[in-house]
Amino acid sequence: MTLHSQTILMCPPNHFEVAYVINPWMEGQIAKTDDDLAHRQWDDLCNAVGQYAKLALEPPQRDLPDIVFTANAGLVLGEKVIVSRFRSRERRGEEPHHRAWFEESGFEILDWPQDVPFEGAGDALFDRGQDLLWVGHGFRSDAAVPALLEKLLGRKTAALNLVDPRFYHLDTCLCPLEGGYLLYFPAAFDEKSRALIEALTPQGKRIAVEEADAMKFCCNAVDLGGHVFMNDASETLQTHLRSAGFAPIVTPLSEFMKAGGGAKCLTLKLVET
Ligand code: ARG
Repeated sequence: MTLHSQTILMCPPNHFEVAYVINPWMEGQIAKTDDDLAHRQWDDLCNAVGQYAKLALEPPQRDLPDIVFTANAGLVLGEKVIVSRFRSRERRGEEPHHRAWFEESGFEILDWPQDVPFEGAGDALFDRGQDLLWVGHGFRSDAAVPALLEKLLGRKTAALNLVDPRFYHLDTCLCPLEGGYLLYFPAAFDEKSRALIEALTPQGKRIAVEEADAMKFCCNAVDLGGHVFMNDASETLQTHLRSAGFAPIVTPLSEFMKAGGGAKCLTLKLVET
């Protein structure tokens, strides 16, 4: 990847907090985030990512604390975007803001059926080695989403059924890396989905992580030209990544973890081809 050929969408955490519980990470965390620390951690991620990509910012919104997780704004392909349709009432208020941002930024907004929940790039990840879109369902995005996306975008999709509520979005337990590598936590998927991952990704390209690393949201990573940004990862995993040619970069995001989000959730790649 040439330097700055990517643009990343982020949203400052001005109104970020844990105000409700819609995933297991948020349990017991209401009003427990530290504002200053959240800002520092977000700034650090911004600066780190900003060395390898341009940044675009979406304005924060009062009473929409989870809008910081721009991965859930929508799914971009070329000039087109599908704006997310959130499953939970708590996040539906974000939809018009995301729509307005994409419209103002010149994207063509594709029609999406309002009765089909789909949480954008949180549940739809482009493989970086083949023409394939991995699509997660089971907790947030509907089981009908993979077929709908395939029709709408003309991209082959691989549907993955999520079974562990701690890993409720696909980007919490799977990360396609440059060169067709796949970082993932196998136990987050049902057997059929694990078999599909194995069928579509050669063994040498699969990096299966242990539960302890998965719980650090190591799979919630942002790969920019082989620089892999993540909340945390064990030395063992970092060594593994390095030997596969990647440069893991740990950028702690404890305050956002309290809401069930890490590095990938806080970013959205706006250049996807
Ligand atoms: N609290 C947010 C939610 O439950 C976290 C979203 C994390 N985003 C992601 N792409 N995994 O919706």
